[in-house]
Amino acid sequence: MDTTVAIVGGGPAGLLLARLLHRRGIGCVVLESRDRDYVERRQRAGILEQGTADVLRACGAGDRMDREGEVHDGIELRFDGRSHRLDFPALTGGRRVTLYAQTEMVKDLVALQLQEGPPLLFEATARAVEGIETDRPRVRFTHGGRERTLTAEYVVGCDGSYGVARDAVPPGAQRRYERAYPYSWLGILADVPPSCEELIYAHSPRGFALHSMRSRTVSRLYLQVPNGTDPADWPDERIWIELAARFAVDTGWRLEPGPITAKAVLPMRSLVIEPLRCGRLFLAGDAAHIVPPTGAKGLNLAVSDVVVLARAFGHWAATGSTDLLDGYSETCLRRVWRAEHFSYFMTSTLHADPDQNPFQTRLQLEQLDRITSSGHAAAELAENYTGLPLSSG
Ligand code: DHB
Repeated sequence: MDTTVAIVGGGPAGLLLARLLHRRGIGCVVLESRDRDYVERRQRAGILEQGTADVLRACGAGDRMDREGEVHDGIELRFDGRSHRLDFPALTGGRRVTLYAQTEMVKDLVALQLQEGPPLLFEATARAVEGIETDRPRVRFTHGGRERTLTAEYVVGCDGSYGVARDAVPPGAQRRYERAYPYSWLGILADVPPSCEELIYAHSPRGFALHSMRSRTVSRLYLQVPNGTDPADWPDERIWIELAARFAVDTGWRLEPGPITAKAVLPMRSLVIEPLRCGRLFLAGDAAHIVPPTGAKGLNLAVSDVVVLARAFGHWAATGSTDLLDGYSETCLRRVWRAEHFSYFMTSTLHADPDQNPFQTRLQLEQLDRITSSGHAAAELAENYTGLPLSSG
């Protein structure tokens, strides 16, 4: 097999890149190791920045999002028994977010790709990326029990943080910046109408909790748990009691419990690999950087990477110039580090570190108080949450 751009990984980054390249008339093939059902069920976050929603619309993948997604104009912060709303449009000059689950966006992109192309192979397991210093790099993969090779002009690794693409980079050619967090999230889906209109981020002495949603009848909630937690130690009743305690405010608000349909523990880490390119291999999305989930930046960063990359490939295909491809890493890293800082900030301000002393807790509460009493501090959070414009890099 031979193509212009070989894309390893059919998650949101790989699928959207394929869509954007296809619309520029650039050939590509997507190799995804899992089957379609798995890819379409994978539960991830659900907040799309304004720029992410705009990109999906512009490439013809926004119809269902516009029908079924929910536009959110703010979030609620809870701490110290108090609740405070941040009004995004007022704080940012009109920016909002859209609640539309990543898994729904993936379904939309898969359906479009299977209808209109380019080729998307499921259960095509990349084994190795080779020849990235040559002008014909290739991906060795297995599909249908056969060993195959996909040769291309460029390879893009969109295969997540445990993918094989980045193994092609020689030792010493990239630098890793990494941080692990001393806590995880227990995430649940429940068949119960959300107890709120907008997301609630709660700081409490018992640890962090987040109330999100998937629809008017399905709630998505998370609670901070120790690393290594076994979901089996959290029967449904224990989860609802703990969530209610963490969200408690003295306004009469109540958390409605309901049947829990999914439970999973998510570890948290920050990671950036620099540069995002080595020879003819580019990395995008989780293959290049990871953020802890607080603030829901992971998917949005993947989208901004592939927007920059698709533009660069378009420029190369139209003019033969590699200028934008050469600038890919630097352009993306500015936005990546901003999101890394924001995700770290949200995480460390809202969670209870097991080694935290009372002084540090007071500092967290002071920071939350600042955000809820200063327009400047609130605007800083709101701008980051709704996302900086894509064109700023
Ligand atoms: C969701 C996840 C997040 O990490 C977040 O900050 C907001 C929402 C979600 O799954 O809906």
